[in-house]
Amino acid sequence: MTIIEARGLKKTYKSKSGPVHALDGLDLSVPQGTVKALLGPNGAGKTTVVKVLTTLIQPTEGTAVVDGIDVLSNPRAVRRIIGASGQYAAVDENLTGFENLEMVGRLYHLGAKTARRRAQELIDQFELTEAGNRPVKGFSGGMRRRIDLAGALVINPKILFLDEPTTGLDPRSRLALWQIIKNLVNDGTTLLLTTQYLEEADHLADDIAVIDGGKVIAEGTSDQLKAQIGGHRVVVALVDEAEAGAASEILARHGEGEARVSSDRRSVEVAVTDGPRALQYVLADLGQAGVGLHDAGMRRPTLDDVFLKLTGHTAEQEQDANAAEMEKAK
Ligand SMILES: Nc1ncnc2c1ncn2[C@@H]1O[C@H](COP(=O)(O)OP(=O)(O)OP(=O)(O)O)[C@@H](O)[C@H]1O
Ligand SMILES: [Mg+2]
Repeated sequence: MTIIEARGLKKTYKSKSGPVHALDGLDLSVPQGTVKALLGPNGAGKTTVVKVLTTLIQPTEGTAVVDGIDVLSNPRAVRRIIGASGQYAAVDENLTGFENLEMVGRLYHLGAKTARRRAQELIDQFELTEAGNRPVKGFSGGMRRRIDLAGALVINPKILFLDEPTTGLDPRSRLALWQIIKNLVNDGTTLLLTTQYLEEADHLADDIAVIDGGKVIAEGTSDQLKAQIGGHRVVVALVDEAEAGAASEILARHGEGEARVSSDRRSVEVAVTDGPRALQYVLADLGQAGVGLHDAGMRRPTLDDVFLKLTGHTAEQEQDANAAEMEKAK
Protein backbone atom coordinates (compact mmCIF):
# COMPACT_ATOMS: atom_id res chain seq x y z
CA MET A 1 0.00 0.00 0.00
CA THR A 2 1.24 3.46 -0.90
CA ILE A 3 1.31 5.76 2.11
CA ILE A 4 2.98 8.84 0.61
CA GLU A 5 2.02 9.90 -2.89
CA ALA A 6 3.02 13.11 -4.65
CA ARG A 7 2.15 13.96 -8.24
CA GLY A 8 3.54 16.73 -10.41
CA LEU A 9 4.81 18.87 -7.56
CA LYS A 10 6.08 22.27 -8.58
CA LYS A 11 7.32 25.02 -6.35
CA THR A 12 8.48 28.29 -7.83
CA TYR A 13 10.09 31.01 -5.78
CA LYS A 14 10.48 34.56 -7.00
CA SER A 15 13.96 35.97 -6.71
CA LYS A 16 15.76 39.07 -7.94
CA SER A 17 17.40 37.11 -10.73
CA GLY A 18 14.06 35.61 -11.87
CA PRO A 19 11.94 32.63 -10.82
CA VAL A 20 13.60 29.68 -9.03
CA HIS A 21 12.04 26.32 -9.77
CA ALA A 22 12.78 24.54 -6.52
CA LEU A 23 10.47 21.70 -7.60
CA ASP A 24 9.83 21.11 -11.25
CA GLY A 25 7.26 18.35 -11.65
CA LEU A 26 8.28 15.90 -8.98
CA ASP A 27 6.51 12.55 -8.56
CA LEU A 28 7.03 10.32 -5.58
CA SER A 29 5.41 7.31 -4.00
CA VAL A 30 6.41 5.48 -0.85
CA PRO A 31 4.95 2.10 0.16
CA GLN A 32 3.90 1.74 3.79
CA GLY A 33 6.57 0.46 6.15
CA THR A 34 9.46 1.16 3.80
CA VAL A 35 12.35 3.61 3.77
CA LYS A 36 12.71 5.92 0.82
CA ALA A 37 15.76 8.12 0.37
CA LEU A 38 15.73 11.31 -1.64
CA LEU A 39 19.30 11.61 -2.78
CA GLY A 40 20.57 14.81 -4.28
CA PRO A 41 23.18 17.56 -4.08
CA ASN A 42 22.73 21.03 -2.52
CA GLY A 43 19.81 22.87 -4.03
CA ALA A 44 18.26 19.77 -5.64
CA GLY A 45 14.92 20.44 -3.92
CA LYS A 46 15.07 17.91 -1.07
CA THR A 47 14.03 20.25 1.75
CA THR A 48 11.30 21.74 -0.44
CA VAL A 49 9.73 18.29 -0.97
CA VAL A 50 9.82 17.57 2.75
CA LYS A 51 8.31 20.97 3.53
CA VAL A 52 5.43 20.36 1.14
CA LEU A 53 4.74 16.87 2.50
CA THR A 54 4.91 18.05 6.11
CA THR A 55 2.51 20.94 5.30
CA LEU A 56 5.01 23.72 6.04
CA ILE A 57 4.65 25.19 2.56
CA GLN A 58 2.18 24.82 -0.28
CA PRO A 59 3.29 23.77 -3.74
CA THR A 60 2.68 26.05 -6.70
CA GLU A 61 1.20 23.06 -8.54
CA GLY A 62 0.58 19.38 -7.96
CA THR A 63 -0.96 17.13 -5.34
CA ALA A 64 0.27 15.23 -2.30
CA VAL A 65 -1.48 12.65 -0.16
CA VAL A 66 -0.13 11.26 3.10
CA ASP A 67 -1.85 8.21 4.59
CA GLY A 68 -4.91 8.92 2.48
CA ILE A 69 -5.12 12.54 3.66
CA ASP A 70 -4.76 15.40 1.21
CA VAL A 71 -1.87 17.56 2.35
CA LEU A 72 -3.31 20.72 0.79
CA SER A 73 -6.93 20.50 1.95
CA ASN A 74 -6.35 18.90 5.34
CA PRO A 75 -2.92 19.87 6.70
CA ARG A 76 -3.93 19.66 10.35
CA ALA A 77 -4.92 16.01 10.05
CA VAL A 78 -1.60 15.27 8.34
CA ARG A 79 0.37 16.96 11.11
CA ARG A 80 -1.28 14.74 13.71
CA ILE A 81 0.18 11.54 12.24
CA ILE A 82 3.65 12.58 11.10
CA GLY A 83 6.93 13.35 12.78
CA ALA A 84 9.54 15.54 11.16
CA SER A 85 13.01 16.68 11.90
CA GLY A 86 15.47 18.52 9.80
CA GLN A 87 17.20 21.62 8.63
CA TYR A 88 14.33 23.87 9.64
CA ALA A 89 13.50 22.14 12.92
CA ALA A 90 13.25 24.42 15.89
CA VAL A 91 14.76 23.58 19.22
CA ASP A 92 14.77 26.22 21.91
CA GLU A 93 18.42 26.80 22.75
CA ASN A 94 17.72 27.97 26.27
CA LEU A 95 15.58 25.03 27.28
CA THR A 96 17.10 21.74 28.39
CA GLY A 97 16.83 18.63 26.24
CA PHE A 98 14.08 17.34 28.49
CA GLU A 99 12.14 20.62 28.40
CA ASN A 100 12.33 20.75 24.61
CA LEU A 101 10.78 17.31 24.30
CA GLU A 102 8.17 18.14 26.91
CA MET A 103 7.27 21.28 24.96
CA VAL A 104 6.85 19.30 21.75
CA GLY A 105 4.48 16.97 23.62
CA ARG A 106 2.42 19.92 24.82
CA LEU A 107 2.28 21.29 21.26
CA TYR A 108 0.83 17.95 20.23
CA HIS A 109 -1.77 18.37 22.99
CA LEU A 110 -0.47 15.62 25.22
CA GLY A 111 -1.44 16.23 28.86
CA ALA A 112 1.25 17.62 31.17
CA LYS A 113 1.92 14.25 32.78
CA THR A 114 1.99 12.31 29.53
CA ALA A 115 4.27 14.89 27.92
CA ARG A 116 6.74 14.56 30.78
CA ARG A 117 6.65 10.78 30.72
CA ARG A 118 7.19 10.67 26.98
CA ALA A 119 10.06 13.17 27.21
CA GLN A 120 11.78 10.99 29.81
CA GLU A 121 11.30 7.83 27.72
CA LEU A 122 12.94 9.50 24.73
CA ILE A 123 15.79 10.93 26.80
CA ASP A 124 16.52 7.38 28.00
CA GLN A 125 16.10 5.79 24.59
CA PHE A 126 18.46 8.27 22.97
CA GLU A 127 21.00 8.00 25.76
CA LEU A 128 20.76 11.68 26.59
CA THR A 129 20.25 11.10 30.29
CA GLU A 130 23.28 13.07 31.35
CA ALA A 131 22.64 15.86 28.84
CA GLY A 132 18.89 15.95 29.30
CA ASN A 133 19.05 18.49 32.09
CA ARG A 134 21.41 20.87 30.32
CA PRO A 135 20.37 23.70 27.98
CA VAL A 136 20.56 22.66 24.34
CA LYS A 137 22.94 25.51 23.51
CA GLY A 138 25.76 23.52 25.11
CA PHE A 139 25.03 20.36 23.07
CA SER A 140 27.47 18.88 20.59
CA GLY A 141 26.35 18.36 16.98
CA GLY A 142 25.63 14.68 17.57
CA MET A 143 23.57 15.39 20.71
CA ARG A 144 21.61 18.04 18.84
CA ARG A 145 20.75 15.59 16.08
CA ARG A 146 19.57 13.09 18.64
CA ILE A 147 17.36 15.56 20.50
CA ASP A 148 16.01 16.75 17.17
CA LEU A 149 15.20 13.20 16.10
CA ALA A 150 13.67 12.49 19.51
CA GLY A 151 11.42 15.53 19.01
CA ALA A 152 10.08 13.97 15.82
CA LEU A 153 9.15 10.82 17.73
CA VAL A 154 7.20 12.32 20.60
CA ILE A 155 3.84 11.18 19.21
CA ASN A 156 5.06 7.79 17.88
CA PRO A 157 4.38 8.88 14.34
CA LYS A 158 3.24 6.46 11.69
CA ILE A 159 5.29 8.38 9.12
CA LEU A 160 8.60 10.04 9.74
CA PHE A 161 10.37 12.69 7.65
CA LEU A 162 14.07 13.25 8.27
CA ASP A 163 15.84 15.98 6.33
CA GLU A 164 19.57 15.23 6.16
CA PRO A 165 19.66 13.53 9.56
CA THR A 166 23.44 13.03 9.69
CA THR A 167 24.92 15.93 7.73
CA GLY A 168 27.92 17.34 9.55
CA LEU A 169 28.31 14.45 11.99
CA ASP A 170 31.56 12.59 12.50
CA PRO A 171 31.63 8.96 11.30
CA ARG A 172 31.03 7.52 14.76
CA SER A 173 28.00 9.70 15.52
CA ARG A 174 26.68 8.96 12.06
CA LEU A 175 26.86 5.21 12.67
CA ALA A 176 25.11 5.64 16.02
CA LEU A 177 22.30 7.63 14.43
CA TRP A 178 21.95 5.10 11.62
CA GLN A 179 21.45 2.40 14.22
CA ILE A 180 18.73 4.43 15.94
CA ILE A 181 17.00 5.02 12.60
CA LYS A 182 17.24 1.33 11.72
CA ASN A 183 15.61 0.34 14.99
CA LEU A 184 12.77 2.75 14.30
CA VAL A 185 12.00 1.40 10.88
CA ASN A 186 12.16 -2.16 12.16
CA ASP A 187 9.15 -1.19 14.24
CA GLY A 188 7.19 -0.49 11.05
CA THR A 189 7.50 3.29 10.76
CA THR A 190 7.49 4.56 7.19
CA LEU A 191 10.47 6.83 6.63
CA LEU A 192 11.21 9.42 4.00
CA LEU A 193 14.73 10.71 4.42
CA THR A 194 16.82 13.11 2.41
CA THR A 195 20.55 12.88 2.10
CA GLN A 196 23.55 14.03 0.13
CA TYR A 197 25.42 10.90 1.13
CA LEU A 198 25.31 8.09 -1.34
CA GLU A 199 26.49 5.76 1.36
CA GLU A 200 23.67 6.78 3.69
CA ALA A 201 21.00 6.10 1.08
CA ASP A 202 22.68 2.80 0.28
CA HIS A 203 22.76 1.84 3.94
CA LEU A 204 19.30 2.87 5.12
CA ALA A 205 16.89 2.93 2.21
CA ASP A 206 14.82 0.23 0.53
CA ASP A 207 14.37 2.50 -2.40
CA ILE A 208 16.23 5.58 -3.65
CA ALA A 209 14.96 8.51 -5.71
CA VAL A 210 17.82 10.53 -7.14
CA ILE A 211 16.76 14.15 -7.48
CA ASP A 212 18.40 16.99 -9.32
CA GLY A 213 16.91 20.31 -10.39
CA GLY A 214 13.60 19.65 -8.60
CA LYS A 215 12.89 16.41 -10.46
CA VAL A 216 13.39 12.70 -9.90
CA ILE A 217 16.03 11.70 -12.43
CA ALA A 218 16.32 8.04 -11.46
CA GLU A 219 14.66 5.66 -9.07
CA GLY A 220 15.12 2.16 -7.79
CA THR A 221 16.92 0.05 -5.24
CA SER A 222 20.58 0.70 -4.71
CA ASP A 223 21.37 -2.43 -6.75
CA GLN A 224 19.09 -1.38 -9.59
CA LEU A 225 20.72 2.03 -9.77
CA LYS A 226 24.16 0.45 -9.75
CA ALA A 227 23.11 -1.98 -12.47
CA GLN A 228 22.17 0.95 -14.72
CA ILE A 229 25.81 1.78 -15.16
CA GLY A 230 27.24 -1.63 -15.91
CA GLY A 231 28.83 -4.50 -14.06
CA HIS A 232 32.26 -3.50 -12.86
CA ARG A 233 34.90 -0.85 -12.87
CA VAL A 234 38.58 -1.51 -13.37
CA VAL A 235 40.79 0.67 -11.18
CA VAL A 236 44.58 1.02 -11.24
CA ALA A 237 46.84 2.97 -8.87
CA LEU A 238 49.93 4.39 -10.56
CA VAL A 239 53.48 4.60 -9.27
CA ASP A 240 54.12 7.71 -11.34
CA GLU A 241 51.35 10.25 -11.92
CA ALA A 242 53.11 11.38 -15.12
CA GLU A 243 51.82 8.12 -16.67
CA ALA A 244 48.13 8.92 -16.02
CA GLY A 245 47.58 9.93 -19.65
CA ALA A 246 49.07 6.75 -21.08
CA ALA A 247 47.21 4.61 -18.54
CA SER A 248 43.86 6.22 -19.23
CA GLU A 249 44.26 5.53 -22.96
CA ILE A 250 44.90 1.87 -22.24
CA LEU A 251 41.95 1.59 -19.84
CA ALA A 252 39.62 3.33 -22.28
CA ARG A 253 40.64 0.78 -24.95
CA HIS A 254 39.13 -2.02 -22.86
CA GLY A 255 36.28 -0.13 -21.19
CA GLU A 256 32.95 1.48 -21.90
CA GLY A 257 33.39 5.19 -22.53
CA GLU A 258 36.15 7.39 -21.19
CA ALA A 259 38.51 6.49 -18.38
CA ARG A 260 38.42 8.73 -15.32
CA VAL A 261 41.64 10.07 -13.82
CA SER A 262 41.52 11.03 -10.14
CA SER A 263 42.29 14.63 -9.21
CA ASP A 264 45.73 13.68 -7.81
CA ARG A 265 46.40 11.74 -11.06
CA ARG A 266 47.43 8.69 -9.07
CA SER A 267 44.52 6.47 -10.01
CA VAL A 268 42.62 5.77 -13.20
CA GLU A 269 39.40 3.85 -13.66
CA VAL A 270 36.93 2.83 -16.32
CA ALA A 271 33.52 1.12 -16.51
CA VAL A 272 33.64 -2.34 -18.07
CA THR A 273 31.10 -5.02 -18.90
CA ASP A 274 33.22 -8.10 -18.28
CA GLY A 275 35.36 -7.23 -15.28
CA PRO A 276 37.86 -10.10 -15.03
CA ARG A 277 38.53 -10.19 -18.76
CA ALA A 278 38.98 -6.42 -19.01
CA LEU A 279 41.33 -6.47 -16.02
CA GLN A 280 43.52 -9.11 -17.68
CA TYR A 281 43.80 -7.13 -20.92
CA VAL A 282 44.41 -3.86 -19.09
CA LEU A 283 47.21 -5.40 -17.00
CA ALA A 284 48.83 -6.99 -20.04
CA ASP A 285 48.79 -3.72 -22.00
CA LEU A 286 50.00 -1.64 -19.05
CA GLY A 287 52.83 -4.13 -18.52
CA GLN A 288 53.83 -3.92 -22.17
CA ALA A 289 53.79 -0.10 -22.03
CA GLY A 290 55.97 -0.24 -18.91
CA VAL A 291 53.47 1.59 -16.68
CA GLY A 292 54.26 0.83 -13.03
CA LEU A 293 51.40 0.01 -10.66
CA HIS A 294 50.93 0.15 -6.92
CA ASP A 295 47.62 -1.61 -7.08
CA ALA A 296 45.03 -2.87 -9.55
CA GLY A 297 41.60 -4.42 -9.25
CA MET A 298 37.92 -4.27 -10.00
CA ARG A 299 35.09 -2.88 -7.96
CA ARG A 300 31.32 -2.60 -8.15
CA PRO A 301 30.04 0.88 -9.07
CA THR A 302 29.11 3.13 -6.16
CA LEU A 303 26.13 5.44 -6.07
CA ASP A 304 28.60 8.25 -6.77
CA ASP A 305 29.27 6.62 -10.12
CA VAL A 306 25.52 6.46 -10.68
CA PHE A 307 25.18 10.17 -9.95
CA LEU A 308 28.00 11.02 -12.33
CA LYS A 309 26.44 8.96 -15.06
CA LEU A 310 22.98 10.48 -14.58
CA THR A 311 23.91 14.12 -14.19
CA GLY A 312 27.33 14.43 -15.81
CA HIS A 313 28.85 15.58 -12.53
CA THR A 314 29.56 13.95 -9.19
CA ALA A 315 27.60 15.03 -6.12
CA GLU A 316 30.90 16.28 -4.69
CA GLN A 317 31.70 18.42 -7.71
CA GLU A 318 28.30 20.03 -7.35
CA GLN A 319 28.89 20.66 -3.65
CA ASP A 320 32.26 22.23 -4.43
CA ALA A 321 30.66 24.48 -7.05
CA ASN A 322 27.96 25.51 -4.59
CA ALA A 323 30.49 26.21 -1.86
CA ALA A 324 32.52 28.34 -4.27
CA GLU A 325 29.39 30.29 -5.18
CA MET A 326 28.50 30.87 -1.54
CA GLU A 327 32.07 32.02 -0.90
CA LYS A 328 31.73 34.52 -3.75
CA ALA A 329 28.40 35.80 -2.43
CA LYS A 330 29.96 36.59 0.96
N1 LIG B 1 12.36 30.52 0.38
C1 LIG B 1 13.05 30.43 -0.77
N2 LIG B 1 13.16 31.48 -1.59
C2 LIG B 1 13.85 31.40 -2.75
N3 LIG B 1 14.45 30.28 -3.18
C3 LIG B 1 14.38 29.19 -2.42
C4 LIG B 1 13.68 29.19 -1.16
N4 LIG B 1 13.78 27.96 -0.62
C5 LIG B 1 14.52 27.23 -1.48
N5 LIG B 1 14.88 27.96 -2.56
C6 LIG B 1 15.67 27.48 -3.71
O1 LIG B 1 15.09 26.29 -4.19
C7 LIG B 1 16.09 25.34 -4.57
C8 LIG B 1 15.89 24.05 -3.80
O2 LIG B 1 16.15 24.30 -2.42
P1 LIG B 1 16.09 23.17 -1.30
O3 LIG B 1 16.32 23.84 -0.01
O4 LIG B 1 14.86 22.37 -1.45
O5 LIG B 1 17.35 22.28 -1.72
P2 LIG B 1 18.00 21.06 -0.93
O6 LIG B 1 18.05 19.91 -1.88
O7 LIG B 1 17.31 20.85 0.35
O8 LIG B 1 19.49 21.57 -0.70
P3 LIG B 1 20.49 21.35 0.58
O9 LIG B 1 21.15 20.02 0.34
O10 LIG B 1 21.47 22.47 0.44
O11 LIG B 1 19.69 21.40 1.83
C9 LIG B 1 17.42 26.02 -4.32
O12 LIG B 1 17.85 26.58 -5.53
C10 LIG B 1 17.08 27.10 -3.31
O13 LIG B 1 17.97 28.18 -3.44
MG1 LIG C 1 17.91 20.95 2.27
